[in-house]
Amino acid sequence: ALPRDLEGLRVVVSAGGTREPLDPVRYLGNRSSGKQGYAIARVAAQRGAEVTLVAGHTAELPPPAGVDLRHVSTAAQLRDAMQERAQDADVVVMAAAVADFRPSARAEFKIKKSDDVPDPVVTLTRNPDILAELVQKRRAGQAIVGFAAETGDERGSVLDHGRAKLARKGCDLLVVNSVGEGGAFEAEDNAGWLLAADGAERPIPRGPKAQLAATLWDAVAEFMRR
Ligand code: PMT
Repeated sequence: ALPRDLEGLRVVVSAGGTREPLDPVRYLGNRSSGKQGYAIARVAAQRGAEVTLVAGHTAELPPPAGVDLRHVSTAAQLRDAMQERAQDADVVVMAAAVADFRPSARAEFKIKKSDDVPDPVVTLTRNPDILAELVQKRRAGQAIVGFAAETGDERGSVLDHGRAKLARKGCDLLVVNSVGEGGAFEAEDNAGWLLAADGAERPIPRGPKAQLAATLWDAVAEFMRR
């Protein structure tokens, strides 16, 4: 049986990907299946927390037992839902893959191809950083957990990028996972590091997404006791 160490905590978790509409039938999206965020919500409920799960678009997943599930589509809707629910949450976890950019304009009618006009060019506008805003508005004592979906490149490793993101976003804990070929998106398993604002770092060995969720909640429980 799992420990009931999260009893009395109100938790809000985001999962899945956002869709940013271009016209009535098209959108910009990403490959998030929601599996990681759902596992985090499910494990929290199993450990006694009162859980709200704000889900963007996901693969077909069973709703986690005992969890208040709300569906959203765009980054703007996810932002509204998270801001509302974070107001009385003890812990906020941002596992959703939020679009960094949305099409600057949403066409009212389906964009047609035409030999008379040039092909369209899509212009993008930056979306608000929901996690950074939640950190700015955090209640006293509230723990905020972010994710970093990274690929290693010439400027640094996945872990380097994760450390920089933790500092930039100002959250208390950050899960860094690798999203290159065969990485975290859509997979059943995940791996990475759990970084804390006080500098503590623990590796998360590859395993089912529920296992990463358990490591995350162990760290949150420890953080709340401090
Ligand atoms: O859904 P799965 O298929 O199971 O895959 C899981 C996952 C790879 C999506 C998940 O583990 C993960 O990494 N989620 C975060 C994805 C992401 O958007 O990472 P990022 O490095 O781009 O963003 C950093 C953090 O800021 C994240 O906590 C993100 O939720 C948040 N963010 C990002 C952009 C934005 N405009 N607002 C945000 O709040």
